[in-house]
Amino acid sequence: MSPNIAAILYLAAGIFFILALRGLSSPETSRRGNYFGMAGMAIAIGVTLILAGASGMTLVLIIAGIAVGGTIGAVIARRIPMTAMPQLVAAFHSLVGMSAVLVAAAALYRPEAFGIATAGGGLKGLSLFELAMGSAIGAITFTGSVVAFTKLQGLVSGAPVVFKGQHWLNLGMGVAIAVFVVFLVASGGEAKTAFWILTLIAFVLGVTLIIPIGGADMPVVISMLNSYSGWAAAALGFTLENTALLITGALVGSSGAILSYIMCKGMNRSFISVILGGFGGESAGPADGGPQGMVKQGSAEDAAFILKNARKVIIVPGYGMAVAQAQHALKEMADAMKAEGVDVAYAIHPVAGRMPGHMNVLLAEAQVPYDEVFELEDINSEFSNADVAFVIGANDVTNPAAKEDPQSPIFGMPVLEVWKAGTVFFIKRSLGSGYAGIDNSLFFRDNTMMLLGDAKKMTESIVKSMH
Ligand code: TAP
Repeated sequence: MSPNIAAILYLAAGIFFILALRGLSSPETSRRGNYFGMAGMAIAIGVTLILAGASGMTLVLIIAGIAVGGTIGAVIARRIPMTAMPQLVAAFHSLVGMSAVLVAAAALYRPEAFGIATAGGGLKGLSLFELAMGSAIGAITFTGSVVAFTKLQGLVSGAPVVFKGQHWLNLGMGVAIAVFVVFLVASGGEAKTAFWILTLIAFVLGVTLIIPIGGADMPVVISMLNSYSGWAAAALGFTLENTALLITGALVGSSGAILSYIMCKGMNRSFISVILGGFGGESAGPADGGPQGMVKQGSAEDAAFILKNARKVIIVPGYGMAVAQAQHALKEMADAMKAEGVDVAYAIHPVAGRMPGHMNVLLAEAQVPYDEVFELEDINSEFSNADVAFVIGANDVTNPAAKEDPQSPIFGMPVLEVWKAGTVFFIKRSLGSGYAGIDNSLFFRDNTMMLLGDAKKMTESIVKSMH
């Protein structure tokens, strides 16, 4: 294949990836977006195999690798519950990070195999710089993602691990990596030990950057690691002179960075602080003793009566709705209310659930009309006009501590002001805390009624009581 044709095909793959990202921006078009992404990846892999002239046993091994990896990926993707998606994404990022390290090492030891060797058989200074950066970012992504995975999976505590001088230590390691990059480049690639030392330091830095980040900031971390994995790939795209890798890496890097920025805005966090590692969750942890007081507990019948007679009801879904898979029952409940002339709307907090867009996907799956679903900034002022705020399996995203308690780890995060509604219903199983591990004083307020139980079962009982 001529280099020109290859370049055009790589460009086509890049365009497919851009269309994929565009498609993924809305639940209506996301399926199509995925197909575009698959088409782009098929072109990129095909062209790379042809360009590399892979044949015989090598080709068989590569295809076998793709088949085994693809099958494992497909099985995992089919089986994984939506609620475990963040840790799956973290696990996948770790693989991207590790492959960046391995490809960089391979390019360093055998540049001729990639067709990037100089006449003397070595590597250009710029290539050495790029592969060192690719390896460093890849190593940070690898260990950072492994730590994020263990926290999200509950294998270790989600509480932030902080110690004195942590930021200085991180800074020191960053500087040390830069020094060893210079060493490697100056030695013309001879100082292979420098490569391994800088990679080792980066592995440690990945851990120290992520351990101080508390539960509440984890969503940002995931998309930040996503961004890192993209930049690692882009750096290697330069080294290997592979346009497809370069374009894909840059797209992943920049879209991850934009998503992190949007989420930081959604949670009122400083983007720079989170990127530099865990200024966010320093005071996370349950509040001392927690709020106490009288709790009003209601039944499905009470809720059905109040809901049917309301004028306006705003539904606030959260992680618990996802766990219980209550979205279909919820839609049925909303339909029953609409039949009684109730004005129904859904309020989605930017970090409700466990991944961006989690609630939108579930509501779309239950065929909730898009025009009933509103983002936080578009609906928050409406709670004071609503008779009922119906909070189903959500907790942190409604916590007034974000507005009222400067000591709270979520202080400053925008929250859905459900307490301004006439009555607030909370469907959850207990008075326990949410992901951020902090108590919610709303459970004890006069206009709150707790509907304790599983989100799906309770909603089904409400629907039954409505008929
Ligand atoms: P949470 O604050 O985690 O609250 C969910 C509540 O659902 C829990 O308090 C739990 O209470 C209840 N629940 C669990 N299973 C249930 C079931 N089967 N039936 C009924 N209730 C059930 O969720 P949220 O309000 O959606 O807030 C999201 C949180 O997750 C934020 O802190 C956010 O920062 C974090 N987070 C978000 C993301 C993204 S990107 N969206 C990613 C990772 C983490 P009980 O145990 O009492 O039932």
